[in-house]
Order: sequence, then C-alpha cells, then structure tokens
Amino acid sequence: MKRRVRKAVFPVAGLGTRFLPATKASPKEMLPIVDKPLIQYAVEEAVEAGVETLIFIIGRTKNAIADHFDKAYELEAELAARNKSDLLAVVQGITPPNVHCVYIRQAEALGLGHAVLCAKPVTSDEPFAVMLADDLIDSPNGSALSQMSAHFHKYQCSVLGVERVPESETFKYGIVNPLPFAERLSNVSGIVEKPKAADAPSNLAVVGRYILTPRIFGLLEHTPRGAGNEIQLTDAIAALLQEEQVLAYEFYGNRYDCGSKLGYLMATIEYGLKHAELGDDFRDYLFTLKERLGQD
Ligand code: UTP
Repeated sequence: MKRRVRKAVFPVAGLGTRFLPATKASPKEMLPIVDKPLIQYAVEEAVEAGVETLIFIIGRTKNAIADHFDKAYELEAELAARNKSDLLAVVQGITPPNVHCVYIRQAEALGLGHAVLCAKPVTSDEPFAVMLADDLIDSPNGSALSQMSAHFHKYQCSVLGVERVPESETFKYGIVNPLPFAERLSNVSGIVEKPKAADAPSNLAVVGRYILTPRIFGLLEHTPRGAGNEIQLTDAIAALLQEEQVLAYEFYGNRYDCGSKLGYLMATIEYGLKHAELGDDFRDYLFTLKERLGQD
C-alpha cells in the first residue's frame, strides 16, 4: 500500500538571533506577516497538503506557539459578548478541526537535525514533513508541500524542496548535487551544508520543506555535530541518500526568507499589497512614498 504524508514537524526552538530583541521572549515563527504569524502560514500549508498531526519542537519560549493553537476561552467569550463575530471566526479558525497538535521540548538548541530527532517518539515509523516556518512560500496553484506530497506519493521516497539561488548565496543553504530525473525533479547524489560558491555542487538550495522517510531518525542518532557545532539535518540526509533514493523538487512558488530582516520586510510588503482589506490603501501609500523618496 502506498504511504501518505500525514504528520509534519515544525522546529521552532531556534534562538532566532538575527531578530533579537524581538525574539527574546517569543519565537521568530510568531513574527506576523501583516496579521498572521509565520507559523500559521506554515500550518495552513501543511493542512492543505493533507497533514493531520502537527508536531511542534519548541524551545525556551515554549508557551507562545502552544497558546496560539490552543482554544482561547476568555478571548472568545469576550469577542462573542462584543458581537465581534468576524473576529471570533478568525480566532476559532486558527486550528482547523480534525488536526492534532503535539508539543515536544528541545531542551537545548543543538541544531535542526537534533530538533527533528526530538520528533522520533511520535513519528518513528511513518514518512513525515519538516517545515521551517521562516521560509514563507507563496504558491498560487497548490502549496509547496502539496506539490511535494504528490511526488512522495508517486515515488515513495524522500523529497527535498529546492530553489535556485545566486552563486554568491550558496554559503547560506544546504546545496544538492542533482542528477536530472523528470521535470523539476532530480535524484540527489550529494548534499553539502553551506558551501562556498567554489565548492558548491550546484545552485539548487534546500529551502525549508522536506519530506523524509523514518530511516532518517536512525541516521540522526549517529550524526556528529557539523557546521556551526550543530547536529545538521543536511549531514543525516547525506547519509540517507547512500541507502535510499532522495529526490529534489523545484516547487512552483515565491519563497521569502523571513529568517532574515530583508526577506521579512519583502514578505510584509508583498502580502500587504495582496491583503483583501488594506491592499489598495497600502498600494496608494507606497506610490506616495516612492514620490517622496524621489524628491530627496
Ligand atoms: P536557523 O538556522 O534559522 O536558526 O534555524 P535560528 O536559531 O532559528 O535563527 P538565527 O540564525 O539565530 O537568527 C532553522 C530552523 O530550525 C529551527 C529554527 O527554529 C528554525 O525554524 N531550529 C534550529 C530548532 O528548532 N532547533 C535548533 O536547535 C536549531
């Protein structure tokens, strides 16, 4: 029987140093793009792809994420008493029905690979997705994870979401060595974490979306600390592809690197322009701003 992806892991236990002090008491995944936190966009993407269990790997700012997806009795009662039915629906719709949330504490931020390993007790024998919410992906026709899930369903092997990056930026990503396989799909024959342009096997970067087979857990258990003295998911994937087929898929969609301040601002502007309530006013404002800047 063909396996489907029904669980998604959201590592949200990083230190978020690039966004301090905003991330001192709240994880960066709670930063809003217009009016919704990054983590909610990622959860909506997962649910669209058919995910039923959301596994959050939480760190020292542990309450914010759980509170966001928990029922908020007092707030709901207050909104109902004030006849704010639209807002009540917004708040009640945050966690879709028929979805389970599981919270696991990563006691120390030992790296993304370690964060994923923390999910082993809940997803040890099934394929699962890993979603980094600070990579916000806007896909007009089917979310990035839905596109990847379709390939997983067809090929029944791990699938990495990849995007072409400028050579000058390979040092920020896991970069794959691709052997063309089908349209937008490659077999991964190697993967390197944060290589300099001269050492990079290609310009195809893994960007915050993974579908992995459970074999990755056994490999993560034996993965020593790598780049940045952290247990790197990339190193375990390098071991995985020695044993199993791993595909890289160039998804359709625009990605915003919201872990960086510039990427975060770009996403805020583009999502602001598309926002149903304020998009038109915001566009007018940007035009006046452009004129003002032109005069300086
Ligand atoms: P990043 O490399 O972006 O690190 O983590 P970071 O700590 O979040 O942010 P900076 O670089 O200090 O600003 C990639 C993803 O892995 C998670 C993060 O929450 C983020 O989603 N992560 C990282 C963990 O959950 N645990 C870790 O130990 C490390």
